[in-house]
Amino acid sequence: MVIKRTWWKEAVGYQIYPASFMDTNNDGIGDLNGIRSKLDYLKDLGIGFIWITPIYESPNVDNGYDISDYQNIMGLFGKMEEFDLLLSEAHEYGIKVIMDLVINHTSNQHSWFIESRSSVKDDYRDYYIWADGTIDGPPNDWLSIFGGSAWEYDETTKQYYLHVFAKEQPDLNWENPRVKRDLFTMVNWWLDKGIDGFRVDAISHIKKAPFTTSLTEDPFAVFKNVPGIETHLEELRNIFKKRDILTVGEANGVSAAEAHNWVGESEGYFNMLFEFDHISLWNKEEQEGLDVIQFKQALTAWQNALADGKGWNALYMENHDIPRSVSSFGSEEAVFWQASAKALALTFLLLQGTPFIYQGQEIGMTNMPFASIDDIDAVDTKNFYHEMIQAGVTPQKAMNVIRKTARDNARTPMQWTAEEYAGFSKREPWMVINPNKQVINVLDELTDPASVINFYKEVIQLRNHSDALIYGGYTLYLPDHPQLFVYGRYLADERYVVIINLSNEFASADLPDNVQIEDWVLQLCNLDDHPIHQHTMFAPYEARVYKHK
Ligand code: NOJ
Repeated sequence: MVIKRTWWKEAVGYQIYPASFMDTNNDGIGDLNGIRSKLDYLKDLGIGFIWITPIYESPNVDNGYDISDYQNIMGLFGKMEEFDLLLSEAHEYGIKVIMDLVINHTSNQHSWFIESRSSVKDDYRDYYIWADGTIDGPPNDWLSIFGGSAWEYDETTKQYYLHVFAKEQPDLNWENPRVKRDLFTMVNWWLDKGIDGFRVDAISHIKKAPFTTSLTEDPFAVFKNVPGIETHLEELRNIFKKRDILTVGEANGVSAAEAHNWVGESEGYFNMLFEFDHISLWNKEEQEGLDVIQFKQALTAWQNALADGKGWNALYMENHDIPRSVSSFGSEEAVFWQASAKALALTFLLLQGTPFIYQGQEIGMTNMPFASIDDIDAVDTKNFYHEMIQAGVTPQKAMNVIRKTARDNARTPMQWTAEEYAGFSKREPWMVINPNKQVINVLDELTDPASVINFYKEVIQLRNHSDALIYGGYTLYLPDHPQLFVYGRYLADERYVVIINLSNEFASADLPDNVQIEDWVLQLCNLDDHPIHQHTMFAPYEARVYKHK
């Protein structure tokens, strides 16, 4: 087989949430110079590209996902000159830079919206989605993903505007060609600067159902992957296609079965998608533990759907919107924490696709024991907390739910050292620091050969140097085993098998016939090395990688 080498298939990505990554001007908020100061760290980790979440001008209602000026940098993060330096220095390190593209909505402080709301006759009126109310109030009963009605009344023109997210994030009207024209001009402006691609935010929401559509079981289906979205996505693809860039769409509502339309090699809209199937398994409010069989099914459905050149996967276990994977899927218990963090590394890094590591995941960062709702910043979490209280839930119970589900769990400052402010800043940061920085921090882990970060480095090196692990096929073994995730990767004669115990108990299994001890060589293990044999036992969270001789 002749391999068509592609940089975005070979590289391992690293997601940076700038506000919490590294603060160099000591205002308690991370900044662009902070990212610049850690490029050597990222290079050493084996990273090939970074995805930076929004750094554009924004009133920060949704931490930068409410953009008021697409072509300026938020003052808290720095200046455009610093961004330009970051871009060129990253390139010198051989690290590509992916930006977040937020084009489903803007901030209500964007000049387009300020104009749009000023009069029904304004030239920009149709840049957003306006409708008359009914005697019941809003135009219909649609709900916002962030809680409450999806409509906000505007006194000036006595109409409602639509917002899928917060009311300060009005949705753009993609049915208006001028909107698309202006957005595409902006996209090209960034690409001309030399950035290497985009993570495209909330892109499955750009098409809305007719306003007469009633809600079904999934209240957000009325603006999730609605038929007709193809036309808009094809136009976007035609911009992207002219460049050698990485594009990854955030695709809530797109199923594995239809994924090939979105990421097919020739006609796909994006190179890859962030799917929601496997992570939705731990979004449940008070769920304990992981259903390993369902989890394997969800991942395998995407692996198979895009196999044999039908497309390409984006692989992830964490991002800035979900709690830490060790806390949800692994274990925070001292005896299991390290093994489970490493086991979770192997559950995604060696699958077929491009892996994205979220900052802090490589040291096994965990959820934050938030003391009260005052520690929370995220707008949606505050809304849900108050909805629970209004519904009669006790504050204590509501906080238990918040501790498990809040996306701020992933937004506590990066733990560089055990110092007072975790080596992130010299003053109190914008977001609480996890007290476990004493144990979980980059500095200490780098010097410990058995640490989570050193395991990540080994796995990344293994992947970076193996065509089978990058371009090869995928096979799931033991699909019905309730504890073990066993998968193979192969390309011609190069073959691997990965065995992970995703439970906190010993697991035994009849390994597949073609996994025989005499034919396989252990490459990596997160515990002491063990020989493989049939009917073998696996310790809690034990994870091994074998290569065929
Ligand atoms: C998805 C982003 O990841 C999330 O952080 C944001 O709140 C919403 N899109 C709205 O832009």
